[in-house]
Amino acid sequence: MNLVLMGLPGAGKGTQAEKIVQEYGIPHISTGDMFRAAIKEGTALGLQAKAYMDRGDLVPDEVTIGIVRERLSKDDCEKGFLLDGFPRTVAQAEALEAMLAELGRSIDYVINIEVDKALLMERLTGRRICKECGATYHLVFNPPVKLGVCDKCGGELYQRADDNEETVANRLEVNMKQTQPLLDFYRTKGYLRNINGQQEIEQVFADICELLGGLK
Ligand code: AP5
Ligand code: ZN
Repeated sequence: MNLVLMGLPGAGKGTQAEKIVQEYGIPHISTGDMFRAAIKEGTALGLQAKAYMDRGDLVPDEVTIGIVRERLSKDDCEKGFLLDGFPRTVAQAEALEAMLAELGRSIDYVINIEVDKALLMERLTGRRICKECGATYHLVFNPPVKLGVCDKCGGELYQRADDNEETVANRLEVNMKQTQPLLDFYRTKGYLRNINGQQEIEQVFADICELLGGLK
C-alpha cells in the first residue's frame, strides 16, 4: 500500500498517520518529523532546515527530495509506505513520481484531509506532543487524562517551536499557496481522495479505513 497523506498544517495528518501505520503495518515517513529529529541531533541537515522551519517556510525542494529518496530506498518500504507532509510542491510530486517509476511502483491513493482554515489556528496552538513516544494531543479536542502527561507512555508533553501564532499564520499562508496546484496534479492522475477532517478523530479514521478497505 503506497499512500500520501495531504492536508494543511493542523488538518490531522500526524494524528491519522499514527493510526494508519498501526492498522496497516507500513512505515510512517514524515518529512517534518525527519527534520525535527535532525535538528535535535544537531546534524548538517538539521542546521539547514531549522531556519526555514522556525519561520514556517518550506525547506528547499532539493534538500527535502534528497531525504525522501534515501528513506524510500530502505528495505522496510518494500511493503509500502505512508508519506506524511511530502510532497508539498509540484516539483516534489514530480520527483516522487520519478523515484517510484525507478522502483517500478506507483501511488495507490493521495488522501487529502480537508479542514476549514478558520479551525486550523486553534488546532495548532492547542497541540501538545509527547517527548517520549511522539503521540499527539490537543488541550481541548483531545486532552490527555492527566494535564501535561502522555496517556500512552507517561512521557512529558511539550509544544512544538513552530506552533506559536505568528509562525502558524505563515505556515498556513505558505502551504495554502502550494496546495491547489498539488491537488490539481494528483486529481489529474486519478489518485486524489478527499476526506472530511472536521469530524471526530475516530470518524476521520473510519472514513480512511473504508477508503483503504479495498486495498488491504
Ligand atoms: P510538518 O511537521 O509536516 O507540519 P505541518 O504540515 O505544518 O503539519 P502539522 O504536523 O503541524 O499538522 P498535522 O496535519 O500533522 O496535524 P496533527 O495531526 O498534529 O512540517 C513542519 C515544517 O517542516 C514545515 O513548516 C516545513 O518547514 C518543513 N517541511 C516538512 N515537510 C516539508 C516538505 N515536504 N517540503 C518542505 N518543507 C517541509 O493535528 C493538529 C492538532 O489538532 C493536534 O493537537 C490534534 O490533536 C488535533 N486534531 C487532529 N485531528 C482532529 C480532529 N479530527 N478533531 C479535533 N482535533 C483534531
Ligand atoms: Zn508518550
